[in-house]
Amino acid sequence: MNRIFSQSLLAAAALGTAAFANAAEVKIGVAAALSGGAGQYGAAIRNGFQLAADQINAAGGVNGNTIKLVIEDEQGKKEEAINVFKKLIFQDRVVLIFGPTLSNSAQAADPVAQGAKTPVFGTSNTADGITSIGNYVFRNSVTEADVLPETIRIAAKHNNIKKVAVFYGNDDVFTKSGYDNFKKALEDLKIPVTTTETFAKGDVDFKAQLTKIKATNPDAVVLSALIAEGGPIMVQARQLGLNVPFIGGNGMNSVKVFDLAKDKADGLWVGSPWSIENATPENTKFISAYKAKYNVAPDQFAAQAYDAMYIVAEALKKVKISGNVQADRQALQTALPEVKTTGATGAFQFRQAQGARGKPGGYDAVQTPIVMVTRGGRYVIEK
Ligand code: ALA
Repeated sequence: MNRIFSQSLLAAAALGTAAFANAAEVKIGVAAALSGGAGQYGAAIRNGFQLAADQINAAGGVNGNTIKLVIEDEQGKKEEAINVFKKLIFQDRVVLIFGPTLSNSAQAADPVAQGAKTPVFGTSNTADGITSIGNYVFRNSVTEADVLPETIRIAAKHNNIKKVAVFYGNDDVFTKSGYDNFKKALEDLKIPVTTTETFAKGDVDFKAQLTKIKATNPDAVVLSALIAEGGPIMVQARQLGLNVPFIGGNGMNSVKVFDLAKDKADGLWVGSPWSIENATPENTKFISAYKAKYNVAPDQFAAQAYDAMYIVAEALKKVKISGNVQADRQALQTALPEVKTTGATGAFQFRQAQGARGKPGGYDAVQTPIVMVTRGGRYVIEK
């Protein structure tokens, strides 16, 4: 979007001018990485939102209002996420934005939503600090801080892990946050680190670091990576004869790992509130509806998005859509923290985060992680 256009939209918003409002339609923005390295997650995320919105609309909408998704590709890039947020807030005048896909982009774009008093809801942002941006920032994606200690504990128990190597991306908000939380969890569990190696986004050859890691003879590799790099890392590790378990964060919890790493994908430990193997009524219903609509199995990125749409729909029941979008955004921000649901990812509620500089924080997810390991092209639950 060009700058002059975006500035005039900003000015219009500042004047509080209500755009044409159609009381029968509630516009919700989706800012997802539909292309680039993070496109692996974004397609599943978009499908999850679309499935839930279609179901809600087919059942009569929310208080008779239809949900209309405005979907934009933020390409997994910070600058693009900011542009998309401005378009959704000031041009489309959505009541809430879902996204963006990566924490790296959320850290850059969420302040735009916070500044415009527009609720923003992450379904895949798991880095520390995202919700400290402010009280319009919500997420149902459980943080690395909440999941990794449990993933390491269970993986260590099953594999008799006494020492690990650490490998992480040092130029991304999520992979760095994963590293910080892995480090802390390893200290708490008194598991020594044989070596710590790094890579950068876009790298394709990891053999130098993996060779160093192999030489330190670890019992496992702790990996904080997004799938675009994490998949090739697993392949190259196995090619070098580094056959120990890998312990990953949220970025590695994508069925895409089976496409990328094929027979090299076994022995990857991850944690999440969602598992395709978790046969609750809500999850079974979600999985079969998703398969019927898209002809593929969902992953946890799809499940998080699907549940998030239902969380917002629950809050919208308490919002009397006025046509004054700023008033509607405010009512939604007030209603959201109270929502408690049980969805495909299990029981859910929010807890308020610490805000920056003494200001009120946003809202994180309270959910119970499930720990899984890849085996024969499946994520198998382990306790
Ligand atoms: N969980 C990953 C992130 O926060 C996708 O960036």
